Amino acid sequence: MNTFDQMVERQHERVCFHQDRETGLRAIIAVHSTKLGNALGGTRRWHYATEADALYDVLRLSEAMTYKAAVSDLPMGGAKSVVLLPRRGHEAGEAEARAMGRFVETFNGAYIAAEDVGVTPQYVDWMRMETQHAMGGRRGGDPSPFTARGVLIAMRVALAHQGRPTDLGDLTVAVQGIGHVGRCLVGLLSTEGARIIVSDIDNDRVSAVVDEFGAIACAPDKILTEECDILAPCALGGVISAKLATRLRCRIIVGAANNMLDDPDEDAVALRNQGILYAPDVIANAGGLIHLAGLYMGLSEQAIDRKIDNIETTMARVLQEAESLPSTYAAMVAYAQRRIAGGDPADKERVHAG
Ligand code: NAI
Repeated sequence: MNTFDQMVERQHERVCFHQDRETGLRAIIAVHSTKLGNALGGTRRWHYATEADALYDVLRLSEAMTYKAAVSDLPMGGAKSVVLLPRRGHEAGEAEARAMGRFVETFNGAYIAAEDVGVTPQYVDWMRMETQHAMGGRRGGDPSPFTARGVLIAMRVALAHQGRPTDLGDLTVAVQGIGHVGRCLVGLLSTEGARIIVSDIDNDRVSAVVDEFGAIACAPDKILTEECDILAPCALGGVISAKLATRLRCRIIVGAANNMLDDPDEDAVALRNQGILYAPDVIANAGGLIHLAGLYMGLSEQAIDRKIDNIETTMARVLQEAESLPSTYAAMVAYAQRRIAGGDPADKERVHAG
């Protein structure tokens, strides 16, 4: 499908390709919606097999950001950016980050960048040498602990929805991906006394949480089908499919990974048919966005915390509404679209570049 057809299908407002001759930067910024306000979304650095893969990723991720901002009751839209790396592991340097910052600046605040996979706080600080429209780094810090907190809240809601005790101490949780969020989540789960199974393609990250938290290591190709109460995908998207659903041995899926369902409409129904409760990732993993957006809007720490705590009521409501809909994903989309449709245009003015 060509670019315009994909934009029309997903209802994107704007997709912009950029190359910087001096640094070799190749990047795409996709703004899905600014109906509720300017759009904050991470910058992902990744080596994609093809340009079409990169476009597909940024379109899916930016659409999800629109839903995430809406379900988090933020006066913000949805956008995301990707940097196409020439090869896997291509080092992130200041020149590339600053070139990306200049690209972000051309959006004049309609797009606000932040960290995502492959982007460090240092990278954000480099971007901020060229634009004010980037959050994280020295301006807001690492959002991952806030994301992990929201995921833990969502786990409790999912347990309660199944009529089970919400004490994680008696449960086994399998965490895929021990990066920024995964590691924080393992720390929280350890405090709760949960039995934790972990996996990462980076062995050092696995060893670190095995040593520190007594987690149990698992091979990357086995983690998703491990027997557990809760499966927490915290690596990349597209890891759960309808085909895989029949092999899963968990009762609940709640994690940080954006777009964890390969085809959300179809896969969410397949999960329900298997008796697995999927707690939509855009609600569960919104803590980091709420933290950064809150700082951007000048909210107090307490107000930001309250908004993160609201993940509980939003998730509970969406899981409840899903009872009369085909899936929890369908319920999340319906909830987000109601908010977007009722959006107050006056709010739009309040969120602009600081
Ligand atoms: P990260 O890059 O720090 O961690 C990802 C981890 O997954 C890495 O350790 C990587 O080695 C591992 N990994 C990759 N493929 C794997 C596989 N097949 N099996 C096992 N491990 C694998 O990224 P971060 O920030 O922790 O984010 C994780 C996910 O959560 C991403 O999908 C991101 O988009 C999403 N997310 C992150 C937020 C944040 O606050 N950092 C906020 C909302 C969503």
